[in-house]
Amino acid sequence: MERLLIRRPWDMHVHFRQGEVLDGLVRETARYCAGALVMPNTSPPILTYEDALEYEFRIKNVANRAGYQHFKPLMALKLAQNTSEQTIWRAASSINSIVKAVKLYPRGVTTNTSDGVSAPLEKNLQKVYAAMQEVGMVLSIHCEDPNADVFAAEEQYLPVVGLLTHLFPDLRIVLEHVSTRAAVEFVQQSGPNVAATITAHHMRFNRNHLLKDGLRPHLYCKPILKTENDRQAVHAAAVSGNPTFFLGSDSAPHPKNAKETSCCAAGVFTAPILIPLLAESFEDARMLDRLEGFASIYGPQFYGIVPRQSAALLTLVRETEQIPHPRSSEAAVLPLAGESLRWRIQY
Ligand code: DOR
Ligand code: ZN
Repeated sequence: MERLLIRRPWDMHVHFRQGEVLDGLVRETARYCAGALVMPNTSPPILTYEDALEYEFRIKNVANRAGYQHFKPLMALKLAQNTSEQTIWRAASSINSIVKAVKLYPRGVTTNTSDGVSAPLEKNLQKVYAAMQEVGMVLSIHCEDPNADVFAAEEQYLPVVGLLTHLFPDLRIVLEHVSTRAAVEFVQQSGPNVAATITAHHMRFNRNHLLKDGLRPHLYCKPILKTENDRQAVHAAAVSGNPTFFLGSDSAPHPKNAKETSCCAAGVFTAPILIPLLAESFEDARMLDRLEGFASIYGPQFYGIVPRQSAALLTLVRETEQIPHPRSSEAAVLPLAGESLRWRIQY
């Protein structure tokens, strides 16, 4: 049997939500990840250090109770139009602050972002970016113009990011879930302070998968899946070995009834099948040896996380496994449910 050993992955963009679903979602990711950057677009949102501290405590608790003491949640604050620089100083003040990033969601661009940012270059926010630059906090950006055509939205927001890189040259920036050739090229042409996360679904699917043979709500996400040409650029960046491209799954579960309805919520739930999905994509490119860098090394490296000496390994075995259907009518549905994957994690 073919085996592949990699250091435990870091998922640098994941949604754990709040309330009843939190426990299951944390366990799902902590099972195979060394750590993860947890997104703040919860309800209520994570706006301050205190919010992040409480959220982190709950996440750690769940992971510990489940026997995943190794799991390290990294926290992100959600940027609001009126966020002040004091928020950054406060979040950075503790030794080993748990807050590693601040997330910029353009207002209204996706799930729970009606309180997002409408004027990203306003004076108070420039002070926020300056403080982040000084303390070494990462600006994580959902790079889409909420007023643009959905297929052009990512490309149309790139000039805003360009301006930020110009005004704050030492600020570390992550373009989240890049979905276009334009965004990939933007990152390639930027300095080492600008990186991108890539999801398993943007590596694998294009907009025909979403729309061609019937509309597939479980592949509907923001940014929306793009052309085959864009997918190829994203896939190539992920397998390239360039350390400014790393894993951020954007695993974003919604209950089945919020996806299979007349107005479907945006989000693809990949956490339970993430690593096997990625293994297939890397194997298709004959680049399996680069999976570990992408999934386990470049992300924490960009965020300045020092790896533990005895980083545990994850074993993948080349064995066909069927993707399960959800266990209840409320549970989130996995993309490709009922189909098979060629790899599975051996626990
Ligand atoms: O598809 C998405 N779902 N994209 C996002 O940016 C947010 C996420 C969510 O929270 O549901
Ligand atoms: Zn997300």
